[in-house]
Amino acid sequence: GRSIGPTINPIKDSTSELAILAKTGSFIVKERKSKRERAQQAKERAGYGDSKLGSVLGADEEPETKPYNKDETEAGEPTNEEAESIQKQRKLLPAFAVRSDLMRTIAENQVTVVIGETGSGKTTQLTQFLYEEGFGSNLSSNGERRIIGCTQPRRVAAMSVAKRVSEEMNCTLGEEVGFAIRFEDKTDPKKTLIKYMTAGILLREILADPMLEKYSCVIMDEAHERTLDTDILLGLFKQLIRRRRDLKLIITSATMNADRFTHFFGDAPQFTIPGRTFPVEVFFSKNSNADYVEAAVKQVLTIHLQNTKNQKNDGDILVFMTGQEDIEITCQLLQEKLDLLENPPPLDILPIYSTLPADLQKKIFSKSNSLKRKVVVATNIAETSLTVDGIKYVVDSGLVKLKVYNPKLGMDTLQLVPISIANAQQRSGRAGRTGPGITYRLYTERATEEDKMYVQPIPEIQRTNLTNVLLLLKSLKVNDINQFPFLDPPPKDLLNCSLYELWSIGALDNLGELTELGKAMTKFPIEPTLSKTILLSSRPEFHCSEEIITIVAMLSVPSVVVRPKERAAEADLAREKFLISESDHLTLLNIYTQWETNLRKFKNNYYKINSWCNKNFLQLKSLLRAKDIKNQIVLIMKKNNFPLTRSKSDEDVRKCLCASFYQQSAKLVKVNVGGATEFLNLRHSYMKMYLHPTSSLIGSTPESIYVIYHELVLTTKEYMNVVTVVDPLWLLEYGSKFFYIADKYKQRIQSVVNIDLPDRSDIERALERDTHEFEKKQEA
Ligand code: CDP
Ligand code: MG
Repeated sequence: GRSIGPTINPIKDSTSELAILAKTGSFIVKERKSKRERAQQAKERAGYGDSKLGSVLGADEEPETKPYNKDETEAGEPTNEEAESIQKQRKLLPAFAVRSDLMRTIAENQVTVVIGETGSGKTTQLTQFLYEEGFGSNLSSNGERRIIGCTQPRRVAAMSVAKRVSEEMNCTLGEEVGFAIRFEDKTDPKKTLIKYMTAGILLREILADPMLEKYSCVIMDEAHERTLDTDILLGLFKQLIRRRRDLKLIITSATMNADRFTHFFGDAPQFTIPGRTFPVEVFFSKNSNADYVEAAVKQVLTIHLQNTKNQKNDGDILVFMTGQEDIEITCQLLQEKLDLLENPPPLDILPIYSTLPADLQKKIFSKSNSLKRKVVVATNIAETSLTVDGIKYVVDSGLVKLKVYNPKLGMDTLQLVPISIANAQQRSGRAGRTGPGITYRLYTERATEEDKMYVQPIPEIQRTNLTNVLLLLKSLKVNDINQFPFLDPPPKDLLNCSLYELWSIGALDNLGELTELGKAMTKFPIEPTLSKTILLSSRPEFHCSEEIITIVAMLSVPSVVVRPKERAAEADLAREKFLISESDHLTLLNIYTQWETNLRKFKNNYYKINSWCNKNFLQLKSLLRAKDIKNQIVLIMKKNNFPLTRSKSDEDVRKCLCASFYQQSAKLVKVNVGGATEFLNLRHSYMKMYLHPTSSLIGSTPESIYVIYHELVLTTKEYMNVVTVVDPLWLLEYGSKFFYIADKYKQRIQSVVNIDLPDRSDIERALERDTHEFEKKQEA
């Protein structure tokens, strides 16, 4: 092939990137180093040593799982007896006792902050109270019925709470009570009066309906979690409530943070639901534990064996771990240790993390059993969003996995860090819900002193990629981001990098305003780079939107490939027949296409397609979800008259991917450096990156040595995830913002290929000018 390898250089210095980021100085290098150091220090000072961090992939992030049978979430018809018992339970909740006072406060104020212990009935009861007060039948200015909305920071919570409330109200889920999460809307525009949704859904609704005419009141639930979407919503509401005086806003919060919300909304009243909590005794570890998993297992067994007299369970145990991996190891170790005992008292070991299948999640809610103790091993999902009844003992690892975005590298890393003091208190509190409890902290008391733990957790807005919400705010005509009322503003460098990212993909123009492309991107509920790919693919030049939509759908679900450790070789062999050697993206497309062909062949027969998937080591649930997402994207395409086109060659698809991912490109350096294939990042040429061991490119000798990648993940190495080989000339053509050809090579290349090469100085001049204007505008 044509090799113009050494002649492509990233544009350095004096150009837009560094100029814009000049304020941050040597941010990249320092940041990487200090983050690693900090993570290490965090571990050391907490005395955790080199713990079982393992892979940071597959940790407890937003779940994308959904049961095969959609109706699994449907409310079953409760029997009369069940319905009665549910109503009885309702009346026992602390919220019920203060119903009239609470409703009066809400009636008299536009904004109310509601504080209450977990389990007091905020999430399930507030909506129903408001409904009973007639908030579901208010009329909007154009005579339409207004509804009650309730936002949740997590999808799992939105779904499970909607189901619970539909049961309490004795109606079918999706009718009077419904939920909406990304790519799944289980509401009925005519019938739904109570709508649970993720905060992200409401944010997108504001795009189409800036006054939120549809709602008579909105409950922002669990605002204390301070997720990015919640924080942005808070800022938007601060402006909106002045324009819609009849809109009620209710913010619920655990005790921590409540004052912040009150001040933010100009002394909004606080209503505290009196809690019914019992004292919790707290024990710290005497020494720091080298391995928190082992320490937790030991603690659970001690509790279990010391407190089981005459086979009687005196209370269940809740263990706080950090993610799927350590939860699974903990459960496994517990079982192994129990099996070593002769005739041990029975113990039910139940894991819970958000990607766990829904039917297994439900198990933790099963009634406590006086003969069999239950130990629930959970992520921080059990801190506030899920209430497990009957817990007497809490075992707290003191750690959490936090997603931290490094804006310069465009990379999220999951870091194991000590929890904050507020989180530690929240975790302990879970032991005192039904009676006096005991918390065992697996860290020393000293670890909580001397400024070693944060008082409050760091809000997500200060540590995450902001491109998505910035694009949204720009579409909402929030032109000057610095004027936006943030509860806590994001750090300036994070803001600048995200703005720069939007400019570099063409969503913002040189003046920092939304381009036509940028406007079109907001039509899709996906990250900007992926929506750009879809938009480009429907242009005649690329003509491959059908393929790209499938690829985007496949990138939006958890891994479709199964690779169990004990059958790894078998799984790799099965995967081989799907491999397209120059592209992981095309491999994903191929897997999907073959799967869909078989699905059709089997006439949607669940058992047949399931066994086909098992044979091929594929995850049926993820593929079904991808199909769903694909259909939804197609609907958006049709609604906006974006053409659906089928490609004539794989090359078109790769070109299109190159045109949207040129900012994430790399060049092969060495095959097999200590078992890994080493690349150099083209944008930050000092940064080494590696081909992921599961990449389709492994083992083949790529003709070209340039690739674009979907994302970078840091596990044991900086791995590129989902990679496609591209022609370097494409990088020049589509990525002229970043790449040029050195003058000395220009002639040689022009004699080989017939393209109109831009003059380097022209590009540099243009970029300098652009940057200058862009910056001026941002600063103004
Ligand atoms: O929001 P808050 O933590 O104040 O309480 P909630 O979620 O409204 O829960 C009130 C009660 O409903 C608790 O006792 C839960 O155990 C119960 N509940 C349930 O049984 N199933 C659910 N999916 C949600 C709540
Ligand atoms: Mg709640």
